[in-house]
Amino acid sequence: MRNQPIGVFDSGVGGTSILREIVKLLPNEDIIYLADSKNAPYGERSKEAILALCEKNVDWLLSAGCKLIVVACNTATTNAIQSLRKNYDIPFIGIEPAIKPAALRSQTHTIGVLATKGTLSSQLFHETAELYSKNTTIIEVVGKGLVEHIESGDFDSIKLQNLLKSFVDPLVEANIDYLVLGCSHYPYLIPLLKKIVPQRVQIIDSGAAVAIQTKQVLIDENLLNTDNKTFNVRFYTNFNKKTIKFISKMYFDEAKVCLIDDF
Ligand code: DGL
Repeated sequence: MRNQPIGVFDSGVGGTSILREIVKLLPNEDIIYLADSKNAPYGERSKEAILALCEKNVDWLLSAGCKLIVVACNTATTNAIQSLRKNYDIPFIGIEPAIKPAALRSQTHTIGVLATKGTLSSQLFHETAELYSKNTTIIEVVGKGLVEHIESGDFDSIKLQNLLKSFVDPLVEANIDYLVLGCSHYPYLIPLLKKIVPQRVQIIDSGAAVAIQTKQVLIDENLLNTDNKTFNVRFYTNFNKKTIKFISKMYFDEAKVCLIDDF
């Protein structure tokens, strides 16, 4: 089992922002990244529909021999991870908006969370937000339309900048000092966000924490690949090979990207 790959999936290309952290921390692992871009965005779908898509992704990764699966999508994690853990017999790692560190560090006691409708309306998100909302005002904003820009390879157009501003300006006016990126696609907006928000606002996401948790679970489950070799990452997508190819080239010189038509 130790030599089997780790599976990572997202509704599209966003989970690569987590993949890059996993690769940094776990250079001996083989990884299969699955982008379900044909069905993106997940964020506007029902909980049942999100779970069905997640199960399809998990079945595909299991048939490729994965030993552990990282659900590299906040929307999928907050809506489906409990069921996935019940229905499948392998470890799952999920990602949720980093409310806790933001709320604990906030000096203005006001933080913003930018995420999808699916994440913000989930029970898991509500439970976490409630835990930290006693001393902190948590302002939630649905980033409707942002995932579509990123999926199409647009990280910096004027149209995108204006859309992002319309979400973030009210948060800055409300005096947030932390902006939590609650969607794995959004780290690709950080350069643009830095032009929009004042320097006093810290932007945080959960990618590095997910990588640490992945390593810990691999150790605990005796699944860590200790073979001294270089990693091998394979990318699979069912739509729009162009964007994932562009992103994978940011991290790896020779990334293999395969199109799976029938998925
Ligand atoms: N990357 C997904 C997330 O973290 C995007 C959601 C979507 O497809 O709407 O929530």
